[in-house]
Amino acid sequence: MVKIAPSILSADFANLGKEIKALEKAGADMIHIDVMDGNFVPNLTLGAGIIKAIRNYTKLPFDVHLMVQNPDKMIPWFAEAGADIITVHAEACIHLDKTLSTIREYGLKAGVSLNPSTDEDCLKYVLDKLDLILIMTVNPGFGGQNFIESQLQKISKIKEMTEDKEILIEVDGGINPFTAAECTAAGADVLVAGTAVFAGGDYQKNINSLR
Ligand code: DX5
Ligand code: ZN
Repeated sequence: MVKIAPSILSADFANLGKEIKALEKAGADMIHIDVMDGNFVPNLTLGAGIIKAIRNYTKLPFDVHLMVQNPDKMIPWFAEAGADIITVHAEACIHLDKTLSTIREYGLKAGVSLNPSTDEDCLKYVLDKLDLILIMTVNPGFGGQNFIESQLQKISKIKEMTEDKEILIEVDGGINPFTAAECTAAGADVLVAGTAVFAGGDYQKNINSLR
């Protein structure tokens, strides 16, 4: 069954602990945490201190999506804060192979994310160092944007590339019940959703309709 990773970018930041407990109760499979540096993307969100503060509110895995330039120096911070998966952007890493090894050296799962315009070929030589591939279905930076349909083809291509491997395919941006169905049909294993999970406040109903 497809996994649902609610993005806390759409949560009430004044009550993050409570929000995370509510997401667990509603049936979330992991918590997606969007870290933005105001440099790689035109928005600034939260850092390792906040992740550490919310770590004890749930046992669900923390799926940390680093939308930052040169993430290498930050990997120890997020490992120490309680991340389970750290995903970096291929576009932000000069030595991607090395960065992925570093994430695994901390005992964590390593992910790579691709912006909509990035070709999946850049993954070809790092597949053995990957646990997750995050396909951005919007240009990263903000919640509530429209799904970019051209990414469905990328999902299918990555599904083919990873057929004989244990690599999760995750999608992020503009996911609603309609686009969720398109993504799972193309091969997605994990759906990240902010707007669609938090809309109206019934998280359980929203998560169920994405599945
Ligand atoms: C966008 C973030 C997403 C975002 C998704 O840069 O990586 O995780 O929160 O938001 P929705 O589901 O609203 O498109
Ligand atoms: Zn994200």
